[in-house]
Amino acid sequence: MQFKRRTHTCGELRESHIEESVVLNGWVDTRRDLGGVIFIDLRDRYGITQIVFEPTYNNEAYEIGKDLRSEYVISVEGKVRQRPEGTENSAIPTGLVDVMVDKIVLLNEAKTPPFQIKDGLDVNEDLRLKYRYLDLRRNEMQQNILLRHKMYQIARNYFDTQNFCEVETPVLMKSTPEGARDFLVPSRMHKGKFYALPQSPQQYKQLLMVSGLDRYFQIVKCFRDEDLRADRQPEFTQIDVEMSFVDTEDVFEVMEGLMKVMFKEVLDYDLKLPIPRLSFKEAMEKYGSDKPDLRFDLEMVTLNEVFKNSDFRVFKDTIESDGIITGLLAKGCGEYTRNQLDGLTDFVKKLGSGGLIWMRVKEDTIEAPVAKFFTDEEIKNLRSTLNAETGDLIFILSGKRLKTLSIMGSLRLEMAKRLELIKSDAKPALLWVTDFPLFEWDEETQRFYAMHHPFTSPYLEDIDKMEANPGDVRARAYDLVLNGNEIAGGSIRIHNSELQAKMFKALGISDEEAQMKFGFLMNAFKYGAPPHGGIAFGFDRLVMLFAGENSIREVIAFPKTSSGASLMDDSPSIVDEHQLKELHIKLR
Ligand code: AMO
Repeated sequence: MQFKRRTHTCGELRESHIEESVVLNGWVDTRRDLGGVIFIDLRDRYGITQIVFEPTYNNEAYEIGKDLRSEYVISVEGKVRQRPEGTENSAIPTGLVDVMVDKIVLLNEAKTPPFQIKDGLDVNEDLRLKYRYLDLRRNEMQQNILLRHKMYQIARNYFDTQNFCEVETPVLMKSTPEGARDFLVPSRMHKGKFYALPQSPQQYKQLLMVSGLDRYFQIVKCFRDEDLRADRQPEFTQIDVEMSFVDTEDVFEVMEGLMKVMFKEVLDYDLKLPIPRLSFKEAMEKYGSDKPDLRFDLEMVTLNEVFKNSDFRVFKDTIESDGIITGLLAKGCGEYTRNQLDGLTDFVKKLGSGGLIWMRVKEDTIEAPVAKFFTDEEIKNLRSTLNAETGDLIFILSGKRLKTLSIMGSLRLEMAKRLELIKSDAKPALLWVTDFPLFEWDEETQRFYAMHHPFTSPYLEDIDKMEANPGDVRARAYDLVLNGNEIAGGSIRIHNSELQAKMFKALGISDEEAQMKFGFLMNAFKYGAPPHGGIAFGFDRLVMLFAGENSIREVIAFPKTSSGASLMDDSPSIVDEHQLKELHIKLR
């Protein structure tokens, strides 16, 4: 097939090109037949240009033009002209001109696509995923992919100028589950043995520090076999970073620099540094979340002091068992109906709360089913602690610390939604959450787990508590949060094999198990490991937020569904008997 190389893209022609002969290649976006004249919007990645077929101008081209349909691929040669008065389209950059077609080559026909190639599409996401190559032909998806490309380049360039070295780490590695389940890959050459796909390059990047690489980064795929949500995929991308001879402040400085250039270059927004910080404890007590959305205020307030002598059974029990009483003030919601209050009670009950205490703030009293349990003094203190005014509504929850705080945090978000507290022009709210607990207690298995991962260093002054009081040990770990999303997480690491052994012990991992799973890292630490620390960005989440999308699937070219399937190539799929046999696998 003969066709000429394009001289311009479909987004390029302006008035300055009038009278020029041009060649354009692209897809038929729309076709209008206006009684003898055919107008086609020709589309490529760069834009849309109107091309015109007129029998009196070139009949041969016109005859071919009559048969064109949406998504046909064509090459046209023609002359740029000023659009006739009244037919200009100010919505597109090429809207003042069009191209009179002299010659057309049909490069390929197309079946009618299962959905229209246009923005603002309203079809089932599964259909979009099945025909992802067509979905990606749509302008808004192309913009997302191009944005992602831009963000890769900014990151690479930034780390390069900061003296970081990009190193690729293995995709087939040893199975050392860190938190989620590993994806396993059976070995053909080693019968009965498996590789795992990395949940992150955590151990490798630490080994690179032992090697003296000093500053490492990698834009890298990670794999986790966990339950999926809008912000989780089984394979996702991290901007992974590790640095030697550093403390938290150094990691923050480098990452804040990256955020600054990202915001400037992508959104033309001048981010103010330093990024504010909150400890995990403060974040939980004020916002009920370790990734609080700070685009609006609405702070929770701990009320243990107010009710420390309360006779109200629920509060008394909470205080005696070292729990928390937390309150939230909903400004001006004092007239909420019973129905609305029941709705909110159901909301917290679904999250595991025993119930929701609410109080309407009146002129000099409060109105609530539980009002009779409180003294005037308590009510007075409650009002002043919460700054409550007539017409407001108070919510109170009490119980086990983290659980109660996190349920109130969800109610906080729910109220923000109902009260429309997040304005569409709200400034991006970034913050560091620091001082996470080193360990997290798991009720189900009745044991402690590493809240971040087992290589995270405790605060050195807390090491003594690791055996007797593991729950009180603070980690030198941090997360970066943007608009209520965890976009990065990292820590200063343990770089000494004795402390690492102590950590495994606290996690109930025996010496043999530790040696078997992490022996290579612990051995490496015996050969002069520098102090080091790092962080990893959830790159998909970062792009999602910059793109203003609600799901990371919108910024991943070929994502999986929420059940981990690829609807386009139909994976995971069954494999043939022969393949299984080679891998020494028998299906039950
Ligand atoms: P962490 O597990 O916190 O840390 O992961 C870092 C960031 O990756 C993103 N993320 C995900 N994004 C999409 N889908 C997922 N399933 C998913 N899981 C995590 C989050 C998260 O903040 N090795 C450590 C980092 C370190 O300590 O340096 C790690 O992987 O945005």
